[in-house]
Amino acid sequence: MSEENKFKDQAKQVYRMLIMVWCVVLLGTVFAIYALVDPSLSAFNTDEELQPVVVENTIEEDDWDKIEDGIHLRTGFVDDDGLMTVVNNCTSCHSAKMVTQNRMTKERWVATIRWMQETQNLWDLGKNEDIIVNYLAKNYAPKSMGRRANLENVEWYELN
Ligand code: HEC
Repeated sequence: MSEENKFKDQAKQVYRMLIMVWCVVLLGTVFAIYALVDPSLSAFNTDEELQPVVVENTIEEDDWDKIEDGIHLRTGFVDDDGLMTVVNNCTSCHSAKMVTQNRMTKERWVATIRWMQETQNLWDLGKNEDIIVNYLAKNYAPKSMGRRANLENVEWYELN
């Protein structure tokens, strides 16, 4: 082998080495970036078992059903007989506000419950229905509306 060919051969070997080193560095970088994004390598975890999602309660355990100034803090319901029956049956689909912002007579509360049972999959309330309806009719009854106040300082005009 001539000196020139020997040199070419060595150059080729160095060149191959460089490419290999470069490949290793590239792979290492890709892996390092991946490890940063997914440190537990969860994408490679073949364990199919689902992990439970832990939701932190923002309300302390003791305060969960705390009542202050006659108001059930968690829901805003008025504290009275049947409160927890109402909380347990009427807050799982919509907020308590949907209930407390309404004021109805007993008949209309029953009708609202029937409507939810017929169209919104509300369950049969059984003997809790009386407790709930009584609670609602008592604490969320229509505000009695008296006669409106007399009009004063009105400028009347003649109809022609
Ligand atoms: C199974 C689910 C579910 C449960 C449980 C439930 N509701 Fe509802 N309720 C609904 C849906 C759905 C609506 C309509 C929500 C909307 O319009 O965005 C609704 C609407 C209402 C409304 C508003 C009605 C109107 O005319 O606008 C009131 C008041 C109400 N619910 C009271 C109650 C009471 C009291 C209870 C407990 C007995 C209760 N809900 C339990 C599903 C439910």
